[in-house]
Amino acid sequence: MNYVIVDKETCIACGACGCAAPEIFGYDADGTSRVLLDDNQGTTKIPEDSLDDVIDAFEGCPSESIKMSDHPFNGNPLSNE
Ligand code: F3S
Repeated sequence: MNYVIVDKETCIACGACGCAAPEIFGYDADGTSRVLLDDNQGTTKIPEDSLDDVIDAFEGCPSESIKMSDHPFNGNPLSNE
């Protein structure tokens, strides 16, 4: 899966993703996460050397707010479900 986005509607700002993949996930003022690659649009391919970290974050998110897909999200976390 090459693309990642955070669903900010369900993110509970737990902070785990930024620990697992600090080069990929940052936080907004309210503590919710965002993908740094593309301003949380889910349109930039995850760099190969970050993929394992992103999968760790994906699997560890307690609210399943990290979405991954083979297809770009174009800003909509639910677009590939
Ligand atoms: Fe939010 Fe999940 Fe990260 S709850 S802060 S997207 S681990």
